[in-house]
Amino acid sequence: MATALFYASSTGNTKDIAKKIAKILDINDIFDIGSGNILLARNYDKLIFGSSTWGEGELQDDWEESWEQFKSLNFEGKTVALFGLGDQDSYSDNFVDAMGMIYQVVILGGGDVIGFWSTANYDFEDSIAQIGDQFVGLALDEDNQPELSDERIQEWCNQIRNEII
Ligand SMILES: Cc1cc2nc3c(=O)[nH]c(=O)nc-3n(C[C@H](O)[C@H](O)[C@H](O)COP(=O)(O)O)c2cc1C
Repeated sequence: MATALFYASSTGNTKDIAKKIAKILDINDIFDIGSGNILLARNYDKLIFGSSTWGEGELQDDWEESWEQFKSLNFEGKTVALFGLGDQDSYSDNFVDAMGMIYQVVILGGGDVIGFWSTANYDFEDSIAQIGDQFVGLALDEDNQPELSDERIQEWCNQIRNEII
């Protein structure tokens, strides 16, 4: 069973990152949720979900539109990895919150989430995506730490590769 990556993106940042991750992991099945195809996730046992956070701790618009369908998915027996983009400086109280919201749906749906990531080297106040000293997935900040992203992506992909491919 192949792996699929689903993402949504308002200004293109998450899209660019999604493409990099797909390239590193050699994933061909990559979907922009803005096309209304989230239910295709049913066809895969291994999934990667990516989202930016908007408003103040809100889902990106396309995620918002697909949210009811997303919540209807059964994640039992599925392995899931998450990545989220945010701005830890301007939105320090809600850094990458959307990733945390997605995490909660996957866990409630019975999914197994891998790819937790240390909160070290980030500077923020609060995040729904934080459990202890880890994020529930890869956190990236193209607004304040773009120079760190490529290395973070490579390391995270190495971390999840055996379980997600
Ligand atoms: C109006 C606005 C609201 C935002 N709200 C948040 C937020 O609550 N939390 C956060 O971590 N980032 C927030 N961001 C930062 C975006 O998530 C970040 O710029 C991201 O890279 C955008 O990715 P995209 O182009 O894929 O949507 C916000 C940005 C803007 C412009």
